[in-house]
Amino acid sequence: TVVETTWQDDVRRLARERDAVVLAHNYMPAEIQDVADHVGDSLALSRIAASTDASTIVFCGVHFMAETAKILSPDKTVLVPTDEAGCSLADTIDADALRAWKAEHPGAVVVAYVNTSAEVKAESDVCCTSSNAVQVVESIPVDVPVLFLPDQFLGAHVRRETGRDNLHVWLGECHVHAGITPADVRRQVAEHPDASLLVHPECGCATSALWLVGQGDLPADRTHVLSTGGMVDAARGMRGGTTLVATEVGMLHQLRKVNSTTDFRPMNDRASCRYMKMTTPELLLRALREGRDEVTVPAGIAARARQAVERMVAIGD
Ligand code: 13P
Ligand code: SF4
Repeated sequence: TVVETTWQDDVRRLARERDAVVLAHNYMPAEIQDVADHVGDSLALSRIAASTDASTIVFCGVHFMAETAKILSPDKTVLVPTDEAGCSLADTIDADALRAWKAEHPGAVVVAYVNTSAEVKAESDVCCTSSNAVQVVESIPVDVPVLFLPDQFLGAHVRRETGRDNLHVWLGECHVHAGITPADVRRQVAEHPDASLLVHPECGCATSALWLVGQGDLPADRTHVLSTGGMVDAARGMRGGTTLVATEVGMLHQLRKVNSTTDFRPMNDRASCRYMKMTTPELLLRALREGRDEVTVPAGIAARARQAVERMVAIGD
């Protein structure tokens, strides 16, 4: 008798044979999230990558995330289903541009969002993710200027939360999150006046949503600016009702999984990241079978970037 196996069975078997742990970001296609050992936000997955016993990490996400895993675990093999999965936000700054910016602000501390290349991290003092950006900036003495890069909307959020006017922000953006606009918020809130809001700080609408809260046009207790991991935690605590979700649409899968009573609706249903959607079951199987695509970071760059990434992993909840 022939025993039928599914592609999910093959992933599990191949991962065991390769001593691999499979990590998936919250924006991955649903079937990739469901087959992974761990699903989470950038910070949670970095922490797992740093502490896992597995000798191979298969990172279902985008390239900078896998590079961060390699920086934290240089002796492990780090694989990505395709090395073509980049990030439009990470592409808004390179090491030369950062060196020029630093030269304009001698003495400033450089805080780099994890959505950056290894070369940019190597030029930075500390990295952060959306879940600990405020705490990372708060760990820097108030009189020391900060260069925050590359996301202008996250930078504006951190400036608002910390009240620091010596925080200089690079004018980069993620095309997916920038495309979720204040007009989307106004339209959706008008259609769903009783809804709660989950807003990623990379969104073009984050600042205006909080401005509307300040004006009394949005309820403060129902408007939450959170990382993708923070959204999952918040969803666990909700019961019923409607929640508008302003981030990449892959997020809805985990929210609906942890809470089947709330109606989670995208703030903008075209907010799909084509890089995140490049990972398919076929490419995941290829990674496990053929050991490709392997992620490497030159030793000198990795050593300099590691200090900044290790500080990130140590700060925040
Ligand atoms: P987080 O998972 O850290 O919230 O990051 C979101 C993101 O845009 C990654 O590309
Ligand atoms: Fe980069 Fe934006 Fe895609 Fe996240 S959603 S990986 S920030 S392009």
